[in-house]
Amino acid sequence: MSRRNMNKKYIVANWKSYKTLDEAEDWLDVFIETPLTFNEEEKEVVICPSFMSLALMDAYLDEKDVPVFLGAQDVSPFDEGAFTGEVNAKQVKECADYAIIGHSERRSNFHEDDALLAKKVEKALSLDIEPIFCIQGKETPIPDGVSIVAYEPVEAIGSGKPDSPDDAEAVAKTVKTEHPTVKVVLYGGSVTAELVNSFTSRPAIDGVLVGGASLDASEFRKIIDNA
Ligand code: PGA
Repeated sequence: MSRRNMNKKYIVANWKSYKTLDEAEDWLDVFIETPLTFNEEEKEVVICPSFMSLALMDAYLDEKDVPVFLGAQDVSPFDEGAFTGEVNAKQVKECADYAIIGHSERRSNFHEDDALLAKKVEKALSLDIEPIFCIQGKETPIPDGVSIVAYEPVEAIGSGKPDSPDDAEAVAKTVKTEHPTVKVVLYGGSVTAELVNSFTSRPAIDGVLVGGASLDASEFRKIIDNA
């Protein structure tokens, strides 16, 4: 069971397979160019870069005392061992407090199924990494122990065609009713600084998962401010 205070708005950046180390550092330089003004008691900002950038970003955020958290975009369903190519929860935990699990791009491109995703959630939770579990609709199974869900309808991702706030809120309500352990429901899919508040102003929606618009540090700052 998580001990985090989840009565906050979550603004989560998913960088997907973008940004080299240099580009990640440039992004951070722009992100902190002017002092951050959001209230940490009210907003939890999480950046999920590639595995490659996690250590660098962790050191940078520590050194400059930047009040944002890091997340991985995946976690191995195995512990450490002979699993070539995998990054396990113990390794993730060195740098990150969160992990996106079950993104539709992993389900479709890497054939991740419900059983595998449940194992990933179990591994993350065993090391106190908070899963941000992506669902594509209200029927998507949610593994035991998940507290944070991101509702991301596939047709809204990267398309410039977000879901309607009404629909997203209805899904958020249903998820919370049917899964009492889920405390936080995020909306994801073509979120921009302009429309973020149309989602986050809905009582059942606790934040956003942002892909494309998070790649630009200034735009992501605006998303945080407007959320
Ligand atoms: P998008 O991606 O904001 O670029 O639509 C969201 C996501 O896939 O998490």
